[in-house]
Amino acid sequence: MEETMKSLLDDSFESAMTLTNSGAPQVPDRYVLPPSQRPALGSSLGTIETTLPIIDLSLLHEPLLRSSVVRDINMACKEFATQFFDLPVEEKMLLVSADVHQPVRYGTSLNHSTDRVHYWRDFIKHYSYPLLKWIDMWPSNPPCYKEKVGKYAEATHVLHKQLIEAISESLGLEKNYLQEQTEEGSQVMAVNCYPACPEPEITLGMPPHSDFGSLTILLQSSQGLQIMDSSKDWIRVPYIEGSLIVQLGDQVEVMSNGIYKSVIHRVTVNKDYKRLSFASLHSLPLQKKISPAPELVGNNAPAYGEFSFNDFLDYISNNDCVQQRFIDTLKKSNS
Ligand code: OGA
Ligand code: NI
Repeated sequence: MEETMKSLLDDSFESAMTLTNSGAPQVPDRYVLPPSQRPALGSSLGTIETTLPIIDLSLLHEPLLRSSVVRDINMACKEFATQFFDLPVEEKMLLVSADVHQPVRYGTSLNHSTDRVHYWRDFIKHYSYPLLKWIDMWPSNPPCYKEKVGKYAEATHVLHKQLIEAISESLGLEKNYLQEQTEEGSQVMAVNCYPACPEPEITLGMPPHSDFGSLTILLQSSQGLQIMDSSKDWIRVPYIEGSLIVQLGDQVEVMSNGIYKSVIHRVTVNKDYKRLSFASLHSLPLQKKISPAPELVGNNAPAYGEFSFNDFLDYISNNDCVQQRFIDTLKKSNS
């Protein structure tokens, strides 16, 4: 059965990188978005650039996270991740899977076997915490992949814990409110590659979505990420060398009972160069149901139903998450 699955996939799988390398002057029809969903590149509309809050994380006094590590990571991002995506197709295909429950998975678009419109992205995603449980399953080529990504995964894990403590405090909760869940939580590293695209005006690298977890810590090699502001305008996130982008995910929105909102974001692509990003997706434990903190709900009914990471995976396996965000299915209309 598994063999049949695999050969079916092999026949239909064509990555964005393969397309870019073939030098095609146009994107295949499956990448073409309806005009209303296109990114309006080049026009000033819908692509305002803003100043996001920039926080010097060294203020958190964590010796493990000195800026030299971040610089190393930045170099790492630019060089060896490219090497993975440049491997021969046959080698990458050993890791291909359309099953979102797989702990290590190479793919293209969001899910190449079910996407109605495709996105100009190749990716490798793998579980990263606890590191020793998963690292042997990671790509063994390029040879430094495990070491470099492993180092990055450990550093982002420490940073996530510190940020969650600060966020809990900022909500008026105990600093340790989510400590246990954070310690037993999961971390998925998504390494994304957006090859140069012949028609960036009519396609996207990733559609509008929010991340399901608690926080996403993102390292990017160049500009391309956009976030939606409260008036539903798309704002370009500037590229700042050596900086990490932190995005709130659905679990923090639910836990805070909607006081904080998860960030809706998308990725644009460009004609001239390949963009890489490392998205470290942190989440509370797989089976753990997350619900609004009782302290923040008070005497009202909670604004959201509870959910686990597992519920999210089931949802994206069975639904088109571009049509409806998972978190919208949890909102209670009575509040
Ligand atoms: C993601 C994501 C953004 C980027 O992987 O969920 O939103 O810039 N990535 O690659
Ligand atoms: Ni995302």
